[in-house]
Amino acid sequence: EKGGYEQYMLKEITEQPRALRKCLRGRVDEEAEQVSLDLELERESVDRIHLLACGSSYHAALYGAQLFRARGIPAQTFLASEYGDRALAGDTPLVIGVTQSGETADTLGALRAAQAAGAETLTITNTVGSSAARECDHALFVRAGPEIGVAATKTFANQQTALHLLALWLGGGDADPSHIAALRAIPEQVQSILDDDSAREVAAELVDSAAYFFIGRGPQHPIALEGALKLKEISYEHAEGFAAGELKHGPIALVTTETPIIAMVTGDDERARKTVGNVKEVQARGAPVVAVTDGKANVEQYAQHVLSVPETEPEIAALLANVQLQLLAYWIARDMGRPIDKPRNLAKSVTVE
Ligand code: M6R
Repeated sequence: EKGGYEQYMLKEITEQPRALRKCLRGRVDEEAEQVSLDLELERESVDRIHLLACGSSYHAALYGAQLFRARGIPAQTFLASEYGDRALAGDTPLVIGVTQSGETADTLGALRAAQAAGAETLTITNTVGSSAARECDHALFVRAGPEIGVAATKTFANQQTALHLLALWLGGGDADPSHIAALRAIPEQVQSILDDDSAREVAAELVDSAAYFFIGRGPQHPIALEGALKLKEISYEHAEGFAAGELKHGPIALVTTETPIIAMVTGDDERARKTVGNVKEVQARGAPVVAVTDGKANVEQYAQHVLSVPETEPEIAALLANVQLQLLAYWIARDMGRPIDKPRNLAKSVTVE
């Protein structure tokens, strides 16, 4: 049932174009330049948002909060296990629980606390009929299909896409044609990354490193966190993600010739230029650099390895970069002979607090 794949994780990474098409289907109308969602939520009443989640879903939620804020809706992300008696004073926000399984105890606990405080709740989940879907006032399904590998892959990409759709919908549903076209192009662009063997080659060069550091800015910051989580959970190697700007405030002390830096540099705006500056700093210290880039900021000259992503809008570039990181993590773990689908000590769905 692994469809010829050695591991579910690789199968699920490969399924992403199809899963993403399902997430978009019927929700994006190119002609009308509209996003429509089957939600009975009064969007005019939403004036601020709290997002709650754990693990990879937390990284998707961090990314989502940036999308809401960019459309003028104040949004804050919390680790579900830290939400507790937090921040519900005054006007209650719309509380969004992002959870693949819909059964994560920490996330359910935080959602229940929010409901008890009178907040309206929405879950972004992959699982129809899950506790989150049943208990929340509203549910937006990400439609990724079943995910068996412990590492979240296709469900993360679909969470990112669902968050995009929700941000556009809450912002009134209208989207400019270039944004709609960029959303529609995601499945095909992900396919072009899957057709590229570079991550496998780069993984072979990086195996046996002392530690792996991931850096990114803006929408690429949660992707740096997610890339590090993916690598550590399936390879058991030390991996950390940082906001690129934070490197010089401490983590750079860890950088040596044995610590590859995986840097997400997309677009050619101020953020990309600053991240190129950070790349130069680590390169000067002899660290091998892997640039995940669309080529626009000319970071290649400071990198030993390049993982390419197609050009798109800045927020969507973060979804594409993550696919290269999934492949990189997979091939490093595979080269190390790790039990990728069932890493030690981990469960697919964490039903204890
Ligand atoms: O089912 P959920 O999305 O609520 O699960 C949350 C985390 O346990 C989960 O994302 C975990 O971090 C991933 N398996 C990591 O790949």
